[in-house]
Amino acid sequence: MIALDQENKIFTLHTKHTTYQMKADHNRVLLHTYYGSRVGGGDLSRLIQYADRGFSPNPSEAEGDRTYSLDTLPQEYSSCGVGDFRLPSIEFEPVDGSRLADLRYIGYELKKGKYSLPGLPAFFGGDEWETLIIHLIDSTCKMSVRLYYGVLESCDLITRAVQVVNEGGQRVQLRRCASLCLDFQQGDMDLITFDGCHAMERGLHRAPLRPGVQSVESVRGTSSHHHNPFVILCEHDASEDYGLCCGAMLVYSGNFLAAAERTQLENNRLLLGVNPYHFCYTLGPGESFTAPEAALVCSPSGFGQMSRQFHRAIREKLVRDPCQGRRRPVLINNWEATEFDFDAEKLVNIAKAAAPLGIELFVMDDGWFGHRDTDRSGLGDWSVNKKKLPGGLEALVPRVKELGMSFGIWIEPEMVSEDSALYRAHPDWALGAPGRPFTRGRSQLVLDFSRREVRDHIYESIRGVLNSADITYVKWDMNRSLTDVWSAALPAGRQGELFHRFVLGVYDILERMRRDFPHILIEGCCGGGGRFDAGMLYYTPQIWCSDNTDAIDRLRIQYGTSFCYPVSTMGAHVSAVPNAQTGRITPIETRGVVAMAGTFGYEMDLNHTTPEEKEIIKRQTAFFKEHYDLIQRGDYYRLSDPFTDPFTAWQQVSADRGEALVSMVSGSTHATAPFRRLRLKGLDPGAVYRVNGGECWPGDVLMAAGWPMPMPTGDYQSIQLYLKAE
Ligand code: DGJ
Repeated sequence: MIALDQENKIFTLHTKHTTYQMKADHNRVLLHTYYGSRVGGGDLSRLIQYADRGFSPNPSEAEGDRTYSLDTLPQEYSSCGVGDFRLPSIEFEPVDGSRLADLRYIGYELKKGKYSLPGLPAFFGGDEWETLIIHLIDSTCKMSVRLYYGVLESCDLITRAVQVVNEGGQRVQLRRCASLCLDFQQGDMDLITFDGCHAMERGLHRAPLRPGVQSVESVRGTSSHHHNPFVILCEHDASEDYGLCCGAMLVYSGNFLAAAERTQLENNRLLLGVNPYHFCYTLGPGESFTAPEAALVCSPSGFGQMSRQFHRAIREKLVRDPCQGRRRPVLINNWEATEFDFDAEKLVNIAKAAAPLGIELFVMDDGWFGHRDTDRSGLGDWSVNKKKLPGGLEALVPRVKELGMSFGIWIEPEMVSEDSALYRAHPDWALGAPGRPFTRGRSQLVLDFSRREVRDHIYESIRGVLNSADITYVKWDMNRSLTDVWSAALPAGRQGELFHRFVLGVYDILERMRRDFPHILIEGCCGGGGRFDAGMLYYTPQIWCSDNTDAIDRLRIQYGTSFCYPVSTMGAHVSAVPNAQTGRITPIETRGVVAMAGTFGYEMDLNHTTPEEKEIIKRQTAFFKEHYDLIQRGDYYRLSDPFTDPFTAWQQVSADRGEALVSMVSGSTHATAPFRRLRLKGLDPGAVYRVNGGECWPGDVLMAAGWPMPMPTGDYQSIQLYLKAE
């Protein structure tokens, strides 16, 4: 609910458990007065302290009052070069070369429903949302800044976006435009970020903020394997179930900057948005720029609650799922089984082994098109390689369908190999600066997706493929970072727009694909989890979580991912052992339990499994299907931390608390294992639950005292407990 005090220009955003407030003061400076547990409201600007602080200057209106400084007051969207020396939200440069932004309040709009951002991903919905737009202006430069707020009360979700309009008569260069600025007046806080590398993404890192700026960012053109555009600021003692924490995510898939600053007054500022690195947008008179959406969930009771609210909001108001209301298929992908070395017979044999085990979708990965026998050629030539698949998709797809399976296909639209017909015809379609040698990644170049004609060509050829057979799933991959970021189609002064225009180009094709093939489920992928972000989730309901399919490494990867993103978005497969990435051998049961903490599928040649393993796989697919709703849509609880605990455990609970699934995986065993109990969460304390169809346990006992864990009798074992209220 948005409450307005028009006279005092106070805007209060209430959600189920939180309150967010801002106020335009007597100088029309928009102050941020509060964000935290839900409170009644009123004028919370009384929380703000005013004091003269050396070297904190005063705006002209405050002449004589040295306690009034933009440098010390909590700002809703910080200015630049006019007295606030903390992180600026915005920077722009008119023709006179000044870099000053002095934003003052001029009005607001209040609307039922949710704003949308043309060309950009954003949370969606109807009247369950309210929208507030605050109008600010730098009156000297005539730059108007509109701050958008969407409030989804039930999920404690507050979305933000920013639109900048050049209302002056001359061009202005926009150098920075954050999506979110959030000032916390409280002191000590921790910053949590999710970092890693290819095949080991989103490990949780937590550290107290120290004086100055601490940041994570991407300059790779994608959100990256290395840092995720999701961060948390929290109290020092915040934990899974206790303490104030505030998660902030960017609904964007390109370069980003998340920066937290601990200030001279021991307050904290969080800034999140497109990375100012190599960013410069020219706005002519009347032109505008829209910064991508950011979303906030604040939880007064720990990370678990914050995650569950993000999960719900992402599942229901961000992901556009072609399988809405239905179960997504259990899939098998041929990549780890064959890599590029396959033909139609090999693929059909993999599908034949999979179908009787309850697997429903066969996905043909990289290598089916152009002249593509290695990763050095073929990208850009989106027509079937007839040497491998002589009858084309027209022959292959019906053979898979005859087995009772549907068919999916892999593509990598943003890329081109130099050894391809496309590159030979259009060498200037690849990103690359004149006179400089290419920097290659996986021996491939990046297409200039800022150019309409490039996008049209790629889209039309992919559309042809998708129309040529009954295809119900697409894996959209992207296997290198952007370098040599220069476009033959942009003038020198506009090259700073290219990183962002590239992302808009990707979104454009994804949106066309959704429009023309609404029944196709798209799985995002970027060498695994290099573009695992909320922007992609708007187009691709699931994302391949990591190229690392080792079940034990996946415990950490999926744990970190779960802080923001729901189980239903995390692509996870059972693969062969020894694992291709780590060489580790884990039981098939454990690989199944871990993959079931995601979208669930297989990535191996099941012709090479034993009859016993086949029976286990049959049971896994049946179990997953039976409990699909609980696993994919249940409330998710982390029960332990795989970074510090030898047991990793998590739990899904149905909305009515009538059912729960507890999953546990042990690490390597040691002699004389300690006695342990696992305390469950989220159950109905008054209910009695039957566990795996056997004994009954009271909900309160399971939560307060816990469940006695059996002693592991080997490495990497797993247990699942299905709880049903009597
Ligand atoms: C990277 C992906 O993450 C893999 O799953 C596979 O699709 C390869 N690319 C194919 O090149």
